[in-house]
Amino acid sequence: MTSLNVGSVKVNHLNKSYGQYQEHALTVLDDISLEIKAGEFVSIVGSSGCGKSTLLRLLVGLDDQFEGKILVDGQPIQGTSLERGIVFQDHRLFPWLNVQDNIRVALLNRKLTVAEQNQLIDEHIELVGLTKFKDAYPAQLSGGMSQRVAIARSLINRPKILLLDEPFGALDALTRANLQKELQRIWQTERITMIIVTHDVEEAVFLGDRVVVMQPNPGRIKRIVPVHLPHPRVREDVRLAAIRNDILTDFSHAVEDHLIIPVVNDFNQFQFAW
Ligand SMILES: Nc1ncnc2c1ncn2[C@@H]1O[C@H](COP(=O)(O)OP(=O)(O)OP(=O)(O)O)[C@@H](O)[C@H]1O
Ligand SMILES: [Mg+2]
Repeated sequence: MTSLNVGSVKVNHLNKSYGQYQEHALTVLDDISLEIKAGEFVSIVGSSGCGKSTLLRLLVGLDDQFEGKILVDGQPIQGTSLERGIVFQDHRLFPWLNVQDNIRVALLNRKLTVAEQNQLIDEHIELVGLTKFKDAYPAQLSGGMSQRVAIARSLINRPKILLLDEPFGALDALTRANLQKELQRIWQTERITMIIVTHDVEEAVFLGDRVVVMQPNPGRIKRIVPVHLPHPRVREDVRLAAIRNDILTDFSHAVEDHLIIPVVNDFNQFQFAW
């Protein structure tokens, strides 16, 4: 079990721009400051394009082009680290490897015997409830099962921090609800810091100790909403619904404000059948 006092994150006046666009750099994140306690579960919601994935990429250390500070346990981050795991929206399993070996990939940089690897892999397959499927190939799994393999793989190195970028975005409502419960259970068992990005306000409120609401153009933190309800939570809790409704008011004008009209003058340009 991970000790409770590691895995804190401090983001201080973070700014991030991408390249030049019509002679201007595109500012994607504007003055983001956020403190996350070790062992906390934080959800980030915001409309498409407000910089959520960009923020996660910076936190995991995939991109070091930014202004401001990102500290993990008080230290500036330097590149990627086994201490920070990430689950992407698309699960990115290797089709030619079975479930066990897809998870084993994460252990390649560790000096473990095959027996030690197998033991760890078995434990993590059990953690996500896939013991019966350890020899199955990704093509034989449903989307939800594949995401569970990805979660097992991201947890096997005992990261202090797990970052999840819309991990359940492509799943149906029922599978999604089951995986949310499972993620909540894993978080309660492992006590690691979790940061989940989602479009789904209900998911954000159900899981998070706090919900960071972002706004676009440029990406900023609009407000941070605490969810003072103990875990495990029950989806039907009316207090969750009240917080969700409150947060949804932040999005109620989004369509009006940022209506995007697709510029399509010539449908012949599409070279595919529809
Ligand atoms: N590598 C890149 N180069 C240039 N611009 C980028 C790059 N990656 C993202 N952007 C731009 O940065 C902005 C934020 O993108 P990002 O992917 O972080 O948004 P998001 O909040 O995750 O959106 P979504 O909810 O759709 O996933 C967008 O305007 C996007 O066009
Ligand atoms: Mg994204």
